[in-house]
Amino acid sequence: MKRVLLTLTVLLAVTLMEAQVTPIVLGDSHAMLKMMQGKKFVLLPVQEAEDIASIAVLDNSNNMVQRLNVKLAIDRVDYYVPYELKGAALLDIEFHGDRRQKGAVGEFVCWKEIEFSDTFDTTNRERFRPVYHHTPLYGWMNDPNGMFFKDGTWHLYYQWNPYGSQWENMHWGHSTSRDLIHWETHPIALEPDWLGSIFSGSCVTNGDEVVAFYTSAGMHQTQSMAVSKDGGRTFEKYSGNPVLTTSDVPDFRDPRPFWNEDIKAWNLILAAGQEMRIYSSKDLKEWKYESSFGKGYGNHSGVWECPDLFKINNKWVLICNINPGGPFGGSATQYFVGQFDGHKFTCESMPKVTKWMDYGKDHYATVSFYNAPENRRVVMAWMSNWQYANHVPTKQYRSGNSIPRDLGLFTCGEETYVSVVPSKEMLTLRGAKVKKPTEACEIIIDTKSMTEIVLSNSKGEQVTMVYDAQKQTFSMDRTKSGKLSFSEAFPCVTTAPTYGTIKQLRLFIDRCSIEAFDAEGKMSMTNLVFPSEPYTNIKIKGGKATIYEIKY
Ligand code: FRU
Repeated sequence: MKRVLLTLTVLLAVTLMEAQVTPIVLGDSHAMLKMMQGKKFVLLPVQEAEDIASIAVLDNSNNMVQRLNVKLAIDRVDYYVPYELKGAALLDIEFHGDRRQKGAVGEFVCWKEIEFSDTFDTTNRERFRPVYHHTPLYGWMNDPNGMFFKDGTWHLYYQWNPYGSQWENMHWGHSTSRDLIHWETHPIALEPDWLGSIFSGSCVTNGDEVVAFYTSAGMHQTQSMAVSKDGGRTFEKYSGNPVLTTSDVPDFRDPRPFWNEDIKAWNLILAAGQEMRIYSSKDLKEWKYESSFGKGYGNHSGVWECPDLFKINNKWVLICNINPGGPFGGSATQYFVGQFDGHKFTCESMPKVTKWMDYGKDHYATVSFYNAPENRRVVMAWMSNWQYANHVPTKQYRSGNSIPRDLGLFTCGEETYVSVVPSKEMLTLRGAKVKKPTEACEIIIDTKSMTEIVLSNSKGEQVTMVYDAQKQTFSMDRTKSGKLSFSEAFPCVTTAPTYGTIKQLRLFIDRCSIEAFDAEGKMSMTNLVFPSEPYTNIKIKGGKATIYEIKY
């Protein structure tokens, strides 16, 4: 009797489960799926090579609560993404692409694979996931957003797709750290609404409040505001959004507000096509257009994005990320040095002068933390390049951020440049001296007038770096570094000017990245590498290496 009961219960449960995941097929590209009640998540199976399916999430009053684009699996599953149900009752799904032949939709693998669950396993499954760099637990990440420091905590938001490991469905993810090194993940900070998805932006602290400015990317790009009263964990969107609009350029985004003590008012800079626009405000809500900067200055081979504007000593630095147009193709960070009076930025260099902050290929969307202590200007960059970011060989997540860096100024000839050094917090990671490089280590190189460093593994994969004092250059060759075939734009040699001589180099290696710095800050170079096994050999010609393990 007991056994019969058990069998019956199991059967009932299976039937119930099956009933829940049977789609209502409505056409060659259209299906609906009822959600199982009482579970926290629906786990959606993703197949990256497929086209997206547009999903409207409906609640039990048939109102649409969210829209997402997910590459639902058609014939195999690459990985799952969780959608938190929060009262969702029905998914209304429209498939795109050429797989919608007559009657095929009902056969798609996703229906068999969709699961309902109270948990989602985020245990790392990627051997290229960095050890000491910030990465999202899962899903796609691009630009760092809204970074600020308050009450001993560093906040880092980021462009995040929670529903796939490629760019789509932009949200602001959220992490915090007490030491700039160990990051804790928090729930989504901002999610798309009917003004659009949530593109890049910045936060300011205003008394007890944290105020976020971001681009609402809908039919047009407009700027919106959201206020947090709990130190940046949750935000309420402002009822008067959008707060800044334009009708003259389609690319109008990435607002960066800041308090300007010189004029005792707020300023805001944002990217508008091929220039940066500057505004001012007394209350963060009403913004007055002040001026534009950029026409004829620096590099214009791509879209200007993600600006920042701040003072270091008595000069102002205007950061302008540009894509494409970087020195080695694709994305890069250029900057201008000059003066800013609260109304207008005046560049002190000739218009043709272009200055790059980092001479690697994987350093983009660099912006600084607002309100960093000790008058520091701490920045982080997205460690990838739009040329191939969607195709780097990871699945569970895509892309990490650079290590934190502190900016300063130095001069060479007539020009003032921005110096970049690893933030002092990185020193706390230095462990014991070791003989050979490991997958996560720091290498200090005392250079000679010509120094060649070759990192390699037993598969014959290698990265060659050369410092040439005579030419005043440092270069990194990743053409034989390991996996390369995911993009023709990946194999390359990057070369940086060193603005004089270099005495010591610092290299940070972390599974899939190499960040090289002149110890004095005159050169930085950030490159991804995907070796099929870690580089555990080092050969140095001219110069001496000291290797430290990283204690994380
Ligand atoms: C830069 C960028 C921003 C935009 C965001 C969208 O990488 O294109 O200009 O706000 O990414 O994800």
